[in-house]
Amino acid sequence: MAAASPLLATALADIAADIDRAFDALLPVPADGRARLYEAMRYAAIGGGKRMRPLLVAAGCGLFNIDRARALRAGLAVECIHVYSLIHDDLPCMDDDDLRRGKPTLHRAFDECTAVLAGDSLHALAFEILADEATHEDPFVRSELVVELARASGPAGMAGGQMIDLIAGENTLDLPAVTRLQQLKTGALIGWCLEAAAIMGRTPPEGRAGLRGYARDVGLAFQIADDLLDHEGSEERAGKRVGKDAAAGKGTFVSLLGPERTRQQAEALVEQAIDHLRPYGEEADLLRAVARFAVARDH
Ligand code: IPE
Ligand code: IPE
Ligand code: MG
Ligand code: MG
Ligand code: MG
Repeated sequence: MAAASPLLATALADIAADIDRAFDALLPVPADGRARLYEAMRYAAIGGGKRMRPLLVAAGCGLFNIDRARALRAGLAVECIHVYSLIHDDLPCMDDDDLRRGKPTLHRAFDECTAVLAGDSLHALAFEILADEATHEDPFVRSELVVELARASGPAGMAGGQMIDLIAGENTLDLPAVTRLQQLKTGALIGWCLEAAAIMGRTPPEGRAGLRGYARDVGLAFQIADDLLDHEGSEERAGKRVGKDAAAGKGTFVSLLGPERTRQQAEALVEQAIDHLRPYGEEADLLRAVARFAVARDH
C-alpha cells in the first residue's frame, strides 16, 4: 500500500482521537440495569475503525470554514449510524461474522440481544446528536441534516442496500445492479458526509454538484476496495474475516470483473472523484488525499 501522505496521516490520527473522546464523554456507564447496553455501545464505538466518514465530514467542512466542534458532531452522528450498521451486519442473521476491528464482534463478546439493542441505540443517538442546538444554531440547518441522514440510512440508502446485498446470493446481479447495491449500502452514508458539509456551509443546491460527484465516486470506490480486501486482503490488517463474499455468493465487482479489472475501475473512480474538486484549491487537498486512500488502503 502507498504510504499515507503526512496531511492524511495527521488528519486520520486527529479524527480518531476526537471521535474516541466524544464517544467516551457521551456514553458514561450508568449504575443500573442498562450498564450492559452502554458497555456494549462503548465496546463497538470506541477504539477502532478508520473513522473515514467523520474525516470526510471534517474535510468537507474545511472547504466552508465550519468550526471543528460542529464538524465533529456531524461526524460523530454518521459514525454512530456506521457502527450500528456494522453491528447488525455482523449478526448471525446477516453476514454471521466473529471478527470486527480486530476483536470479537459485539454479539460474540456480549450476546445477540445486546448487539441488536446497542445497534438500535447508536441509531437513535445519531439523530439526538444532530438535533441538538450544539450542532448548529439554525433549526433549519439541523432539520436538513436530520432528514438527509434519515434518507441515507433507511430503505432508500444503507438499509435498502443491505437488503439487496443479502438476497444477492440468491439472485445473480449484473454490473449496474451491483453498482446500485454499493451506492445504497455504502455510498449513501458517504454521500451524506459531504452533503452535511454543504448544508452547514449553507451552500445552495446548485453549488453542491461537484461535492456530490466526488462523494458518489469515492463511495463506490471505497466499497469496491472493501470487496477487493475481502478477496485478497489480510485478515490481520483488515481486522475482519476475509474470503467471505465469494463463499456467500455475494454479487461484487470482483465476482463479475475479476480482481485486476476491479482495481482499475476503483482507480479510475478515484481520478474521477478528484476531478470533481477542480473548482477548489489547496483547501480541498485533504479530500483529494482521502479519495486516494479509499482505494490504496489495506484495512
Ligand atoms: C466497512 O466500513 C463496511 C463498509 C461499508 C465498506 P469501513 O471500512 O469504514 O470500516 P471501519 O469503520 O474502518 O471499521
Ligand atoms: C457492509 O458491507 C456495509 C454496511 C452497510 C455495514 P460488508 O458486509 O461488505 O462490510 P464488511 O466487509 O463486513 O465490513
Ligand atoms: Mg454485509
Ligand atoms: Mg459484512
Ligand atoms: Mg465487505
